[in-house]
Amino acid sequence: MNSAVKEVFHTGSALETRAVGRKFAAELSCGAVVALSGELGAGKTEFMRGVAEFFGCAEQLSSPTFPIMNIYSGELLGEEVSIHHFDLYRIERGSELEALGFGEYLSNAWCSFVEWAERFVEYDGSYTARVQIAYEGEEGRTITIEREG
Ligand SMILES: Nc1ncnc2c1ncn2[C@@H]1O[C@H](COP(=O)(O)OP(=O)(O)OP(=O)(O)O)[C@@H](O)[C@H]1O
Ligand SMILES: [Mg+2]
Repeated sequence: MNSAVKEVFHTGSALETRAVGRKFAAELSCGAVVALSGELGAGKTEFMRGVAEFFGCAEQLSSPTFPIMNIYSGELLGEEVSIHHFDLYRIERGSELEALGFGEYLSNAWCSFVEWAERFVEYDGSYTARVQIAYEGEEGRTITIEREG
């Protein structure tokens, strides 16, 4: 990412984190590939729920039994947009990702989101934005967003 723009948000509930996700989604453009990072339970999936809300995705996002990849269909200005959402937590090796065609899935959606992206640095060059969520007490979170400016 060259000339990244940085924004920081503080949220006090899952709903507020969702709202930040909705606002972030509203500013995305076609081809965005977003790395979501933060510890277990930080709120990556909550943020993603906000994104899905913005695009009016009908599918229910789930975290505990979450598969490696979900594909959602949403809408923007009357056009259908596809969103690819990955959770790399259970992937152990980069070779597994290659076998799944991860690199292609990243680039052929309207936008893509990757939880635990930081585990596979070989894809660092693919991301157009990074969202980092850190704990600040039980219900507090700091959300740092960096994106291409
Ligand atoms: N400010 C907050 N923002 C987001 N989630 C919060 C906040 N406060 C409390 N929570 C709770 O923290 C949990 C976040 O779970 P979530 O599944 O989004 O985390 P995750 O980062 O995706 O975890 P995992 O790495 O397991 O996928 C939810 O239970 C949510 O209700
Ligand atoms: Mg999650």
